[in-house]
Amino acid sequence: MKILSIETSCDETAVSIIDATGDFPHATYDILADALWSQIETHREYGGVYPMLAKREHTATIIPLLEQVTKDAFGPGDEQVFDPVTPDQRQNLEKIFSREPELVEYVSTFHETYGQPPIDLIAVTSGPGLEPALWVGVNVAKALSFLWDIPVVPTNHMEGHILASIYDADRDNMLSDIAFPATALLISGGHTELITMSNWGSYEKIGQTRDDAIGEAFDKVARLIGLPYPGGPEIGKLAALARKQKLPAFVTLPRPMLQSGDLDFSFSGIKTAVRYAVEDKTLSDNDRAALARDFEDAVTEVIIKKTATAVSESGTQTLVVGGGVANNTYLRQQMNAYFLLNFPDVTVYFPQPGLSTDNSIMIALAGHARANNPLSPAGATAIRADGNKALA
Ligand code: KG4
Ligand code: ZN
Repeated sequence: MKILSIETSCDETAVSIIDATGDFPHATYDILADALWSQIETHREYGGVYPMLAKREHTATIIPLLEQVTKDAFGPGDEQVFDPVTPDQRQNLEKIFSREPELVEYVSTFHETYGQPPIDLIAVTSGPGLEPALWVGVNVAKALSFLWDIPVVPTNHMEGHILASIYDADRDNMLSDIAFPATALLISGGHTELITMSNWGSYEKIGQTRDDAIGEAFDKVARLIGLPYPGGPEIGKLAALARKQKLPAFVTLPRPMLQSGDLDFSFSGIKTAVRYAVEDKTLSDNDRAALARDFEDAVTEVIIKKTATAVSESGTQTLVVGGGVANNTYLRQQMNAYFLLNFPDVTVYFPQPGLSTDNSIMIALAGHARANNPLSPAGATAIRADGNKALA
């Protein structure tokens, strides 16, 4: 089964073509083509992601990426000339792209140039994420489903993050055989959640942030100390430097919610403490590095302790960590070391390089997980982008 997957939930436009052999979850995956365009440079000057700007960028880049993966997967094609889009087809495209009118032309030209590639299914992120951004991917999926007459699976971005973490490129590109129930820790720019996964596709949220997501806290603290967006990787680099140089603490930061008696998180207090600590001060490079380290220490401790409580309360033997912040080297090291020492029977999964932050391979996996229940092209017209889409 060849799956075209599309991800446009935030500030990465990503498109892949993946050949799945076998049924989920025992399939092997052959990545035929994978393309990703990061909008980070565009958003950097504003210090964060603006949904309408993200939408504009997705609209401009999605069809060039689609062309690239089509060529990479199936060759440049011959000199064949395909039928032009008919007036009826065009009318329907205009309806689909009523809010992204440029895409009528882009998709028509793509269709007239490439015809119908041998793709069986389209998987597209329909949420959670920034709605104007999500709609671009969703509407392109609808348009291709209509033109090619193939089904669509709307996928959950967070399910994608979970599956990406247990995807094992070293072992025949399969998902790992994990023991259930599993605990999933999702840490990204928009989410901080603990989830019990009782089986494949079956999720229950057991804890979440009450304010900022952890990635958001990384980004905001980075901004406070004068580092560019996205702040997560920048803080990680500086914090490593501070540890190497054994810089003394710049500030003592709180460890919120450790005594809350539940599995919820809160990160806005840590951010506010950083704001007070830097107010009216001129920071030296060492101050910045020490602060980055103090912050990373605080959030890592909270994440580990809460996750340990979740794991011990539920008695699970599998911990799956996913999302952009799972890229953080220190958090990974500390978490692996902590669980090895305190929960030696628990297997901890982190995503492989390139699969922590947003990508479309994870969306192909999430699409394949639900491939036996796709929507027909007619049914796909009802897909809506849902910024708060829940894992279910
Ligand atoms: O999963 P993701 O790519 O997008 C969302 O779904 O939100 O996560 C992006 C977040 C950003 O807040 C970014 O700063 C953070 O992940 N991030 C990191 C690192 N790499 C990305 N945070 C800490 N350390 C990193 N190395
Ligand atoms: Zn994400």
